[in-house]
Amino acid sequence: MSQVTVTFIHADGKEQAVTTEAGATVLQLAHEIGLEMEGACEGNMACSTCHVIVDDADFDKLPEASEEEEEMLDLALGLTATSRLGCQVVLTPELDGLRLHIPQATRNMMGF
Ligand code: FES
Repeated sequence: MSQVTVTFIHADGKEQAVTTEAGATVLQLAHEIGLEMEGACEGNMACSTCHVIVDDADFDKLPEASEEEEEMLDLALGLTATSRLGCQVVLTPELDGLRLHIPQATRNMMGF
């Protein structure tokens, strides 16, 4: 299996590079390393707490978001043009070197 290295950029500017096996989602990786990414709906596109902001330079490397993902992102706090749901981004070998900004806050849309 190939490996993918992802750099998380925390709200305070600290960078954290992590290498993992390809195939996991950003949310799964975040949980694996104990990052504060809630993922309240466990990847069912119903909460937006897994919101990440993809670095401008990397955004085009990602496959396009589905309509459902776009709809949930519309409800995310601090939405940007390069926002994605961490539970929907699968780390493929093509995404090696991906840089992701962790938003300062997320909004849990479950129960609304
Ligand atoms: S974990 Fe809830 S939308 Fe991604």
